[in-house]
Amino acid sequence: MKMSFRNGSSVCSLVIIALSAIGCREPIREANHHEPNFLFAEVMKISQDTEMQTALVESKDLMKEWFGTPDAPKIPEALREAPYDELFTEANLKLAAGEPGSPGLYVTQQCASCHGLTGQGRGLVAASQNPYPRDFRPGWFKYKSNPRSAKPLKSDFVRILRKGLSGSQMPIFDKLSDDEIHALVDYAVFLSVRGEFERSLLQDAAMENDGDKEELLTNIADRWVDANDATEEFERPAFPLVGSETPETAEQLAESIQKGKELFVGPIAACSQCHGEGGTGAGTKLPDYDDWTKEWTAKIGLNPDNIDEIAPLMALGGMKPQHLKPRSIVEGHLRGGRDPMDIYRRIRYGIAGSPMPAASLAASSQDTGLQPDDLWHLVNYVLSIAQVPPPPIPPASPATSGDSVAISP
Ligand code: HEC
Ligand code: HEC
Repeated sequence: MKMSFRNGSSVCSLVIIALSAIGCREPIREANHHEPNFLFAEVMKISQDTEMQTALVESKDLMKEWFGTPDAPKIPEALREAPYDELFTEANLKLAAGEPGSPGLYVTQQCASCHGLTGQGRGLVAASQNPYPRDFRPGWFKYKSNPRSAKPLKSDFVRILRKGLSGSQMPIFDKLSDDEIHALVDYAVFLSVRGEFERSLLQDAAMENDGDKEELLTNIADRWVDANDATEEFERPAFPLVGSETPETAEQLAESIQKGKELFVGPIAACSQCHGEGGTGAGTKLPDYDDWTKEWTAKIGLNPDNIDEIAPLMALGGMKPQHLKPRSIVEGHLRGGRDPMDIYRRIRYGIAGSPMPAASLAASSQDTGLQPDDLWHLVNYVLSIAQVPPPPIPPASPATSGDSVAISP
């Protein structure tokens, strides 16, 4: 279904209203400014209704009152007490965000150059990357140790900062102290909670819900607090896994790899539909997009391949759509980690925000579907074909300013 769609001027009026002082299509380069989520406001069709536009302006004020600014972040009142006080501490936010006039780690370590000051995924160097740096605001994260719909653990973020994300531009931060890493992790969580709260405010405005704003915020924070409870421990199988075989069990491992190979191309796991036979990344399914792109294109009836059609939304912050290809497993960029348990979780849970599905597990040992051992055979197969690429590298040189590119396509 195609929407009767907006002209440039209604989009522009939204920008003007929300920015007041800054003209339409002008990049925001203020160092101390959280960019409002114009794109999501537009997805919610807020530009088409004056009352909603007022709500947008109000939400912008509330955001500043509760979360502060990039160089003076605040913890909202409702999140200062247990259990929320474990999400981010004031000292950590200060270390990451810096103080007025002196940038903190989030800027000097170049997080802002890629992820943007607001965590909107559009820093100065973001446009040339594939995949794009994560937009933290929807609260969707890919490489975590719990199910697809759960929030990641802080330890997942620590691992990603320490090890980078192989085959993407996300670097390795191996020179920072543990305290510095924890400060950056807290700040990423802060930006995500902030961004998701802003989206909830806009959604409420669009639906003319006048609910309790504090509850809106604690509902989001609860999911971060509950992330630990969502983790499951899985037993390793009775047969050996790649890396732990001995001369005596080598044959058993070879059998498991062979089973994994058959499952990979078989009808139930159907991995090869996307990843291609042999895991080279060339399957039969058509190229797809990630959920960040689909939200403001396909989901509202716009064709991500038609630049003319989507240009007004790109002007509001939509990144030029890029296909998200099934990974070449052979190249071995296993971003969620190379431990068999990491791969097991990846196959079992899928990758949030991407077309990589969760495995269809059988309800019992009699039912059709994959059995837990089948997933381990797949793990062995994946590890048997994945090369070991060189590790990601640290960022080129410390940045001194991290203003974010906005609005211009
Ligand atoms: C040179 C660009 C670049 C820099 C610098 C950078 N990142 Fe990233 N980051 C990326 C990219 C690209 C991705 C997404 C990779 C993907 O989708 O596979 C990413 C992903 C992430 C994720 C999401 C992981 C997930 O599971 O979804 C977090 C959190 C993150 N980065 C935090 C940071 C922090 C904190 C810093 C600074 C210490 C930082 N990044 C610096 C490019 C960068
Ligand atoms: C509908 C298409 C699709 C199917 C089916 C699919 N995948 Fe994927 N897979 C993807 C995409 C797309 C990515 C890359 C996601 C990204 O980069 O955000 C991916 C990534 C991966 C990765 C990389 C994980 C990492 O840590 O970086 C592995 C391993 C993988 N898939 C294994 C499998 C296995 C095994 C199966 C079958 C059980 C399977 N996939 C089924 C689309 C698919």
